[in-house]
Amino acid sequence: MKKIKKKEERVFDFAKGMNIPKNIIRERFDAIPFSILNTREGFWQERKQAWISIGIESEVGRNSNAYNTKQWVNEHQISGNKGQSTNISVFDPVLTELMYKWFCPPQGQIIDPFAGGSVRGIVAHMLDYKYWGCELRSEQIQANYEQAKDICQQENIPIKISTASLKQLFNGCEPKYIKNVCHGRCCESSTMSEGTLITIHPFEENKIRQMGGNIINGLLQPTENKKCKFKNIKNLCILHSKGGKPFGCVASPFTLNNNDTLIIRNRYRLLKCYNNGNKQPAYKVFMKSLELLFGINETARIIKHIEYCNDDIIVQIPAINYQILIDNDNRKHDNKRDVVLFPQWIIGDALDELENAPNADFIFSCPPYGDLEVYSDDPRDLSNMEYHTFIAAYKRIILRACKKLKNNRFACFIVGDFRDKNGNYRDFISHTKNAFIEQGLHLYNEAILINAVGSLPIRITKQFEASRKIGKTHQNVLIFVKGDGKKAAQNINEKNEL
Ligand SMILES: C[S@@+](CC[C@H](N)C(=O)[O-])C[C@H]1O[C@@H](n2cnc3c(N)ncnc32)[C@H](O)[C@@H]1O
Ligand code: SF4
Ligand code: SF4
Repeated sequence: MKKIKKKEERVFDFAKGMNIPKNIIRERFDAIPFSILNTREGFWQERKQAWISIGIESEVGRNSNAYNTKQWVNEHQISGNKGQSTNISVFDPVLTELMYKWFCPPQGQIIDPFAGGSVRGIVAHMLDYKYWGCELRSEQIQANYEQAKDICQQENIPIKISTASLKQLFNGCEPKYIKNVCHGRCCESSTMSEGTLITIHPFEENKIRQMGGNIINGLLQPTENKKCKFKNIKNLCILHSKGGKPFGCVASPFTLNNNDTLIIRNRYRLLKCYNNGNKQPAYKVFMKSLELLFGINETARIIKHIEYCNDDIIVQIPAINYQILIDNDNRKHDNKRDVVLFPQWIIGDALDELENAPNADFIFSCPPYGDLEVYSDDPRDLSNMEYHTFIAAYKRIILRACKKLKNNRFACFIVGDFRDKNGNYRDFISHTKNAFIEQGLHLYNEAILINAVGSLPIRITKQFEASRKIGKTHQNVLIFVKGDGKKAAQNINEKNEL
């Protein structure tokens, strides 16, 4: 099996090393660009296994028992990553890889209005594309980030630490001092009328929600008395002992300036504890924050350096922590830094969130197929809606996604038809085509994705005899173009030649 390595293995060759005849077209395009994409073929399965072996588990984050996924899987004959053991539909990483390579300019920006599991984000990242995905369910996003953390980027990013800044003196956050002197004022904002400005990164939104936090647009909402809801009457943080404090709160004394230098946040010098009480250096009193950012060993090295030297020090920060620091600060500030080291998953309704999506080189998604698989009880969840409401919301989301697509670029939706209560097809494929065409895009390609047969051979006789419904073992790959198809192709070819 051909292994998928980190970024260096950019050009994949499906044919080499496989026990199938060499095929010159496949060598050039990774698979044959015919209108039948057969996931049952040996090379496809091998490639899929290679992707799974890097740790992609797209089914994680979905509650298979709460919703009607069994019915969906039965109808679609889709088995999970680990064979028949899971009930949950898993997006195909090989299809993802092919669509990115065929229809997105190298290093291009992908947007995905219905992100679901981690597959499309992780595959994008591994192939050097930028990915922005929107998903309504915070538990799914948490699972996606956990996987991305393991798979995507284990390496560290070098940054500078301002030794002078970290030698500034503070009292330290002892409970007695918080109760009697500072009242934990660092939790409150001096500039925001709401009273607080606490950023909750999408990776931890689910956890904070489960503990009772209300989060809107990535910000933890204050109580009526303009305080954090997790502050007790003694001004102590009730999450502190539970180990559940948000990343933004733990890291809060520090920020990265535009030169990638870690400094003490300016507003900390306005706090009571600055230059007060015990007057201990920041690197000591905020050691736990440093440990969160850099890990225990690197923190020990940092402290040793600062204790004996005055010059700045270059240190290694895990890429994910670097990204979270920047993402959190971007939420608060107008001058946003454009750092994308990880797939970006946003929690929310695609209808609202697409407005803030980056301009796209490729739209790639797999929408809910009506109410065939119900993902949550959130009224904004498309899979919860009556078909006519579903189509209206679906069209609006497609409109907003198409607005973000640059000219002369492709869009691809993977869709499957499904039946109404009377057993008749909804013709969801045509509704999807119309939705894109109404936005001025052109239908450019249509391919049939042949799925695994699963248990269909066992069920088909009864099903066919009773209803004459033929066994569905395919989905439709719809590719649209905004602008001119040849120019869109040129964009991909030119960048490939660079
Ligand atoms: C077809 S699923 C994706 C399934 C896919 N096989 C996967 O996991 O990669 C569609 C996703 O859209 C999400 N969704 C439904 N309504 C949404 C909305 N209004 N905005 C954003 N996401 C939504 C669902 O929670 C679900 O995860
Ligand atoms: S950082 Fe300062 S204000 Fe905040 S809890 Fe610690 S001592 Fe109090
Ligand atoms: S979660 Fe805790 S540390 Fe963070 S703002 Fe609230 S009370 Fe303060």
